[in-house]
Amino acid sequence: MKHLIKIEDLTVKDINKIYDIAYAFEKGERKTDYSNKSICNMFFENSTRTKLSFEMAQTKINVKKFNFEAKVSSINKGENMYDTINNLSAIGMDAFVIRHTDDNLIEELSKEQYFKDVSFINAGSGKNAHPSQALLDFYTIKSHFKDFYNKTIVITGDITHSRVAKSNIALLKKFNMNIRCLAPNELTGEKIEGVQYYTSLKEAFDGADIVMALRIQKERFENETIDIKKYIENYQITKENLPKNAILMHPGPVNKDVEIEACLYDAPNSVILKQARNGVFVRMAILDIILGGIL
Ligand code: CP
Repeated sequence: MKHLIKIEDLTVKDINKIYDIAYAFEKGERKTDYSNKSICNMFFENSTRTKLSFEMAQTKINVKKFNFEAKVSSINKGENMYDTINNLSAIGMDAFVIRHTDDNLIEELSKEQYFKDVSFINAGSGKNAHPSQALLDFYTIKSHFKDFYNKTIVITGDITHSRVAKSNIALLKKFNMNIRCLAPNELTGEKIEGVQYYTSLKEAFDGADIVMALRIQKERFENETIDIKKYIENYQITKENLPKNAILMHPGPVNKDVEIEACLYDAPNSVILKQARNGVFVRMAILDIILGGIL
């Protein structure tokens, strides 16, 4: 595993290995020292969890980290991404953690012959992929349900614009989980084989073990429109409609009282903050595997 670009590139064995290494980090059973390696974090889109979680992971595995400040970089003088990466590689970076608005740029960089000696880690690419999020979501699910294979997950919210939904569906399909998507037609996006689609919350939530809520990403809307009042009426997850034994997940940030009733954020069956915590161990594992050439 030289890069982490998208879930589709990983096998079930790879995903289980990432889980096992992350688990060893969580239990304090694994220590690493990558003080001879340097990583550059390049965030061209806003981030709280992913950025700081990668930084925390880098600190914990003892790798040298550098934050590229896009707004004050020479990208603003017209330097392109290829020349930027080329120069940063020459300076001594071994790997790049990148979040970008472009769906394909990170993958294209990873295939560039020029950059054959460095690694790329996708920290969120446009509407396309967020593999480290899906891996931490999987870690959270597997840690909660020892036998998760036959569980039913409902992914609900703005599925059209969600890289989290796409990466999670790609991952959970590999484990043959029952995947349901719930959204009004305008937020359903392109239908994916093997997923059941619902427009009725009551039907989708019937027998669900996991509910994963997604934020409505107004900043990514092009020609779409959504009546938020109507969305809340028909799709908001509330104390009343959340299935009793289901866990509630959300990648964050949460629009409280839009996709979920505010009181659910830290309710006993919410694992939202566990997801944030688990993100550190999973990102430690991803970096360990890539820097250490483990897979
Ligand atoms: N889940 C997630 O990607 O959050 P941030 O945008 O804050 O990184």
